[in-house]
Amino acid sequence: MALRKILTEEDETLRKVCRPVTEITDRIRSILDDMADTMHDAGGVGLAAPQVGILRRMFVVQIDPEGPLYELINPQIMETDGEQCGEEGCLSVPGYVGTVTRPNYVKIKGLDRNGNSVEYEGTELLARAFLHENDHLDGILYTQKATDIHYADQDEEQ
Ligand code: NI
Repeated sequence: MALRKILTEEDETLRKVCRPVTEITDRIRSILDDMADTMHDAGGVGLAAPQVGILRRMFVVQIDPEGPLYELINPQIMETDGEQCGEEGCLSVPGYVGTVTRPNYVKIKGLDRNGNSVEYEGTELLARAFLHENDHLDGILYTQKATDIHYADQDEEQ
């Protein structure tokens, strides 16, 4: 298990547009492994390569510990539909949440770690996670889209 340092929002790296992965090598697979470890360790549901300082178009998403780990290289949004409005956070903005309106459905395609084409569909939280991570690849943080950004007080829901 190799953990990488997660960059936080003041780091300009997070505002840069990432370049495509041109060749899927063992190094790329090793970065994806580290990204999944880092995401799990931090208790997140998604992590994009720029968040660990790698300006390449790839991310990992896992919304349920028992569910699938999605790895997408050079992702492209194919279709979106509907609307959802909900609370969102980011491992690069620790402690805070904000309300973001996003499509409720997304179809996304890309490459897996072996270079095979993959296509996934997601609704609700999965759609939100795909779209949030895909935004990171274009240098966009959820804080640019959110309203009501506030510290996530643990007692808030009581
Ligand atoms: Ni994020």
